Amino acid sequence: MTIREIQEEILRLKKENDICILAHAYQNQEILEIADYVGDSYGLSVQAAKDPHGNIVMCGVRFMAETCKVLSPEKTVWLPNPMAGCPMADQLDPEMLQMLKQKYPGYAVVAYINTSSELKTVCDVCVTSSSAVKICKAMDEDRILFIPDQNLGQYVADQIPEKTFAFYSGGCPRHFSVQDFEVRQARAAHPDALFLVHPECRPSVTAQADYVGSTTGIMDFVRKSDAKEYIIGTENSIAEHLQFECPEKEFYPVSVNLSCMNMRVTSLMDVYHCVRGRGGEEITLTEEVLTGARRCIDRMIELGG
Ligand code: 13P
Ligand code: SF4
Repeated sequence: MTIREIQEEILRLKKENDICILAHAYQNQEILEIADYVGDSYGLSVQAAKDPHGNIVMCGVRFMAETCKVLSPEKTVWLPNPMAGCPMADQLDPEMLQMLKQKYPGYAVVAYINTSSELKTVCDVCVTSSSAVKICKAMDEDRILFIPDQNLGQYVADQIPEKTFAFYSGGCPRHFSVQDFEVRQARAAHPDALFLVHPECRPSVTAQADYVGSTTGIMDFVRKSDAKEYIIGTENSIAEHLQFECPEKEFYPVSVNLSCMNMRVTSLMDVYHCVRGRGGEEITLTEEVLTGARRCIDRMIELGG
């Protein structure tokens, strides 16, 4: 079968079996082409909550599929490749968080959505990269323990100086790997380019950016901008997708290391097997986790708008 034929078969099966395919923007082009919805973590959560189909195939990483299940417990939710996890989401478990809470009594716990559903049951609210500043500002609490991404947490704290923040020293190994010298080199090689960066990068990297935002934020910035060249400081698939969408503009990845194998591990064949009922993993969560994580995610949607 050709890629085109596999895609056509997926489209046929998804219609026949009442399936919605959600895809994170880091997925490969051939997956984006057969998805009902493509977006960042926040957009995917909102879409999962309102989608009318009985079955969801979530092309992304595990915490995203868990978020779909929490928001739509009556639906069957599939992760096409069970190996697709996010290392950041595994950095903290409820016992470790309990110890942190003891260190920061009275602090509201704000969890980045890149966490397990189990961890969300013991947090106050979760946030995504596109909603974190708005939500932390809107919260009544003035003291915030931000977990697990210290870089995103610091970025948020810098925008809200009136509140007190404490952090856990976790983060995304890929975005963290971007070095200041790589930004300088890219700027020297492409002096007319704008530098667009994800807030999971180090503060010294985001400080050099022309724009800081989520994956969707970065893509929307490019669509609206008149600039001709961009250095992209997030997973390298975004530079590829933008080059495809905007052939009249030029895109340069800031670092070869910004490639997330966890996001890339899901293939079109995984999706094909999944919609045929011959592969993937059905996400199941206990009643306790569904209820506890739901409270945390609902608060995100309520405060995030
Ligand atoms: P976004 O919410 O910006 O899509 O980020 C998700 C992610 O995993 C970034 O590495
Ligand atoms: Fe997780 Fe980083 Fe990969 Fe995003 S890019 S899924 S935060 S490891």
